[in-house]
Amino acid sequence: MEVNMRLMWGFIALLFCFHQAAASAVAKIQADPSSVINQTSALLSCNLTGVPPVKGSYWSRNGKLLEKSKSDAISDYTSYHIPKIDSHSAGLYTCVFMTNPEVEENIEVKMAPHVSAYKHSENSNENDKASLVCVSHSYPLPTDWKWYKLGDVKTAIVNGTKNYMIRSTDNSSTLYIENLDINADMGDYECAGENELGRHADKIHLRVRSRLAALWPFLGIVAEVIILVTIIFIYEKRRKPDEVNDDDDSGSAPLKSNAATNHKDKNVRQRNSN
Ligand SMILES: *[C@@H]1O[C@H](CO)[C@@H](O)[C@H](O)[C@H]1NC(C)=O
Ligand SMILES: *[C@@H]1O[C@H](CO)[C@@H](O)[C@H](O)[C@H]1NC(C)=O
Ligand SMILES: *[C@@H]1O[C@H](CO)[C@@H](O)[C@H](O)[C@H]1NC(C)=O
Repeated sequence: MEVNMRLMWGFIALLFCFHQAAASAVAKIQADPSSVINQTSALLSCNLTGVPPVKGSYWSRNGKLLEKSKSDAISDYTSYHIPKIDSHSAGLYTCVFMTNPEVEENIEVKMAPHVSAYKHSENSNENDKASLVCVSHSYPLPTDWKWYKLGDVKTAIVNGTKNYMIRSTDNSSTLYIENLDINADMGDYECAGENELGRHADKIHLRVRSRLAALWPFLGIVAEVIILVTIIFIYEKRRKPDEVNDDDDSGSAPLKSNAATNHKDKNVRQRNSN
């Protein structure tokens, strides 16, 4: 009896395993196209085979659900239209059928890199350090970043030479310029991102101000004060001889200062003694 029970349970377990294996082995998705490269638009589609459709389907881009792609329709076919492929729409797309368990397939929508300067214009003071930043959001991300100094000739910037330092990750690159020099470092720079599909670049203008320029507002106030003081000083200087002259000429000008009054008294005294 006991032996038979054990055999039976074993048999059931074995059947269950076979059933599971069979079910997961046959569920398959056919993605069309298998990938999209350098196209302006695309229609992605997935076709479920092997298991009956159960609940519906949806699409995601870079792991994020695309809300309007959600469908409750019980169908073994789903499609997603990308009207314009750019850095906002390229990515890793996934179609998901809500079977149990869910089955999914990926379609890569790739384009040449798209690169943009974080700020197209940077201001720094001489002797300071500037950091110029470029970022990329496209798919796939650049595999290589390059920097150039633009001018009469376009010069590639080599990491670690002169006052340059470059730090790059997949999605951004930063050019650090130490100890800024007005003549040597002011100007236009280019950052370029490259991958197997192409290359894209953007420009940044670096303005380097002299240390003195940073002081201009302060110097302006100082200059204003100096000019005001000078004007007052000159005015006072010119006034005093006039007062003395008035006094000497007629002695009739109304005088208010004590010094002038004393002066007058002295004159009077002098005249009297004469
Ligand atoms: C799905 O795939 C099957 C088998 O490959 C094929 O017969 C069927 O036409 C496809 N359906 C669609 C809508 O593409
Ligand atoms: C540039 O050189 C520095 C220091 O030598 C290093 O840390 C950095 O990773 C280098 N950058 C690149 C893009 O190779
Ligand atoms: C770059 O990627 C890192 C990690 O992958 C992420 O944390 C960061 O936000 C990304 N930066 C930009 C500008 O996309």
